[in-house]
Amino acid sequence: MAGITINNNDNIIPSLEAERAALDSVAAELGVHERSAAAAKVASAPITTTLSGDHGVRVLTLAEYKQAGLTLAEAFKKDHTSLYFTHTPDRSDWSEQQKWELHLKMMEYITYAHLLKGLVVSAGPNYDCVALWMPPGQNMDDIFTILRSGLWRLSYQLSREGRKRFFDEFLPLLNDTKAQVLGPRDASSWYLVYIGTKPSSQGKGYAKAAIEYVTKMADDNGQACYLESSHASNRKMYERRGFEVRKEVFLQRETVNVQLDIMVREPVRRDGDSGVEVL
Ligand SMILES: CC(C)(COP(=O)(O)OP(=O)(O)OC[C@H]1O[C@@H](n2cnc3c(N)ncnc32)[C@H](O)[C@@H]1OP(=O)(O)O)[C@@H](O)C(=O)NCCC(=O)NCCS
Repeated sequence: MAGITINNNDNIIPSLEAERAALDSVAAELGVHERSAAAAKVASAPITTTLSGDHGVRVLTLAEYKQAGLTLAEAFKKDHTSLYFTHTPDRSDWSEQQKWELHLKMMEYITYAHLLKGLVVSAGPNYDCVALWMPPGQNMDDIFTILRSGLWRLSYQLSREGRKRFFDEFLPLLNDTKAQVLGPRDASSWYLVYIGTKPSSQGKGYAKAAIEYVTKMADDNGQACYLESSHASNRKMYERRGFEVRKEVFLQRETVNVQLDIMVREPVRRDGDSGVEVL
């Protein structure tokens, strides 16, 4: 993704509706009920372990990118990593509404890319929580996914500083750190890229359900799970799901560094003879 170069023109910001029309036309062409191969496999496979409680966890399709993107945008509206890309010094003339629309677009593109290549699950009756997972061996770096998801548009929609932060600092840091921390298991682990619950739906167990939907599967297949946590307050929630902090990394182009906790969850075997802690 970082290799894409587009002529910079900060004035070209298509309307949100035009962006949506473009994504909708891709969805129509591909089939709105389309799922990625990985998602189709997961959706058809029974989860072998009963999940605690019924939180209506579902594998989403392309047709649902707007609702899913909106949930993530609302959940991450005040997240310091999200603000790092939209609230740059060279966008001080932008209104909060313009910044929100850019933030929403970013979430829609990223959600769409995961609907094309990964696994997007929601919990709750109305997209209350949405989790973007990248299954083992998958990524969204291919040109097909970058073009079809709209991600390439960030090359001109972000400000000059925003581009430096996103393409030259954030993405390489995440890629390099994941490769270094997971080593040979990088291609055989699940990656929780984003999880967010609408503010009005938080505290009802939806995130727990969306995480456990995949960690149960990872356990069954002996696979690790990986994530970057953007807020220290989330550490405990992840630790209670079996994740451990392996490293801390920092985004450094602001006056105050933005910290990300790198967490890994080892697979848990339920037969109890693995030597791995049984949760
Ligand atoms: C983090 C987040 C996804 C949790 O979603 P949620 O649906 O409210 O979480 P759940 O209801 O499943 O609760 C999970 C755990 O967090 C705890 N929790 C939830 N909301 C909490 C709150 N406001 N304060 C303290 N603990 C809270 C729950 O008690 C539960 O504890 P447990 O681990 O003992 O079971 C949600 O707060 C969110 O979207 N935050 C903003 C975006 C974000 O930070 N995402 C994660 C980026 S790494």
